Amino acid sequence: MAKQRTVYVCQNCGANSPKWVGKCPACGEWNTYVEEHTSKEVEKAKEKSYAARTGVAVPVPIGEVTEEEGMRLDTGDAELNRVTGGGIVPGSLILLGGDPGIGKSTLLLQVALKLKKTKVLYVSGEESDRQIRLRASRIGIENEECFLLTETNTQAVFKQAEILQPSLMVIDSIQTLHTVYVESPPGSVSQLRECTAELQRFAKEKDIPIVLIGHITKDGMIAGPKVLEHIVDVVLQFEGDRNYTYRMLRTIKNRFGSTSELGIYEMQGSGLRAVTNPSEILLTQREEELSGITVASMLEGIRPLMIETQALVTPAFYGTPQRSATGFDGKRLNMLLAVLEKRSGFRFGTKDVFLNIAGGLRVEDPAIDLAIVAALISSYEDKPVSSKIAFAAEVGLSGEVRAVSRIEQRIAEADKLGFSTMFISKFNSKGIDESKFQLQLIPISKVQQLVEGLF
Ligand code: TYD
Ligand code: MG
Repeated sequence: MAKQRTVYVCQNCGANSPKWVGKCPACGEWNTYVEEHTSKEVEKAKEKSYAARTGVAVPVPIGEVTEEEGMRLDTGDAELNRVTGGGIVPGSLILLGGDPGIGKSTLLLQVALKLKKTKVLYVSGEESDRQIRLRASRIGIENEECFLLTETNTQAVFKQAEILQPSLMVIDSIQTLHTVYVESPPGSVSQLRECTAELQRFAKEKDIPIVLIGHITKDGMIAGPKVLEHIVDVVLQFEGDRNYTYRMLRTIKNRFGSTSELGIYEMQGSGLRAVTNPSEILLTQREEELSGITVASMLEGIRPLMIETQALVTPAFYGTPQRSATGFDGKRLNMLLAVLEKRSGFRFGTKDVFLNIAGGLRVEDPAIDLAIVAALISSYEDKPVSSKIAFAAEVGLSGEVRAVSRIEQRIAEADKLGFSTMFISKFNSKGIDESKFQLQLIPISKVQQLVEGLF
């Protein structure tokens, strides 16, 4: 019997210590240390396997290294192509994280089924062949080149992959894999790290891209994929409210492209549908003009989106007026109200104010300020703002209307969607070629001018 060594490993950041500690000195989290075992034999075997696999490398002049761009694998999914920076790079390791039930398995199985004439190996440690087959029938695509493997041992997976020679591999999920070189249970940080490192090596050696699915749970038992982010090449995050049908695919890290990309999907009865015109779904169809509704031209990453903001201002019947904001920072709402009170003479002190951003979105872009101010005034005065007007500017403490980034892109999106007028900051209006757009721009520098210009 090999002599066992006990180490305590932080399940949050992967730091280890020979003793149990309550607070991790590396990442500051509490109660994250879990006992893991290792033995001399296992460590030796691990070192050997490293040495045997690595070989001897020689320095190469950078100019002699071929770039091989344009070899990216087209996933057949426009949104996934966009977030990966134009397709999947051969030999890369991609981590797809997200809450349980958000649709990670659905997304990747769908990609595997859609890729015709490309061999894909879908490795599942969570579901049986039959369950995956059921999901595939739901998606409704047949594909002879999509192979399933229910296996959790990394070495066995590699063996099968070497025989099959797929062009893409999916691991569902990394938390269920285990390697013989680490004794801790699957899902522990040591297992996750070692399995991912093995997959990374395999992907680079065989030039097969691998997509890993990773769960994010608050539960200490299953380690979050945070520790893996350093090892993998690309980190994607699949998010959204499970009660809504829209899902966002975001790039958190990308060694081969930009990180500000966003893909939008709709979960339907038969899989995920890529949403190519996000602005249109976020704008409600209105039959009559209602007060308190305005539209902002926003940027999510580098993608323009038209978003509806709704405000309701009513007389307060109780002592303290209520302030409530959904999808927007409550403190910032208070600031905008104070600016309107002080600079334009509106009396919000005796009113309840409710604010809502449509579509269940959370907005951080300051360019939404002007649309919110307009919605507040519109509801206060009970006068509708035309649904043909868009807004994009930040509002400062002294009531000044400030410039925002990428204004031309915002104007172009509003123009494309048929808006006729757009309020922007005066400081943004320099150098814009107005002849490119059909809509009329109204540059303003103070909130008072908005009040005068609107009604
Ligand atoms: P799943 O891909 O299993 O999520 P994850 O792998 O992230 O845990 O998807 C789970 C949800 O998606 C489930 O609640 C059912 C729903 N769904 C649909 O609405 N339509 C479909 O076609 C499929 C396959 C799933
Ligand atoms: Mg799943």
